Amino acid sequence: MTDPDPLDALIAAARDVRERAHAPYSGFNVGAAVRAGGRIFAGANVENASYPLSVCAERSAVSAMVAAGERRIEAVAVVAGGMNGPVSPCGGCRQVLTEFAAADVPVVSEHADDGSRARWTVGELLPAAFDLSR
Ligand code: THU
Repeated sequence: MTDPDPLDALIAAARDVRERAHAPYSGFNVGAAVRAGGRIFAGANVENASYPLSVCAERSAVSAMVAAGERRIEAVAVVAGGMNGPVSPCGGCRQVLTEFAAADVPVVSEHADDGSRARWTVGELLPAAFDLSR
């Protein structure tokens, strides 16, 4: 038997919150979770009839984290289905994650249908990031 993934609890939180995504326009439900201060903050995508106002799951999770007083992301998990493989965060979310995560922070994405996982670091997802704090 293989060892449990240390990010399993984070992925489970993303899987769970995905059930509450509001994505009636795209039909593409996404859940995300960030760990910060040893706690887990989850968020789902929240779409709007005025499409550009929609918020991605990753940014929902980051908002929950900041509202709780945390600023330093330790790990990120994303869960979505329907595509050929695990989804990778959009460009805007990569920039938002970079605001609160060091380049070596792990990002794991799980495909909701087949359970396959992809892994990157925040730095791999957004190399040469615009970051005023560094
Ligand atoms: N979406 C996310 O929430 N996270 C991603 O990583 C990719 C895309 C959302 C945005 C929109 O509500 C829907 O998925 C389709 O793009």
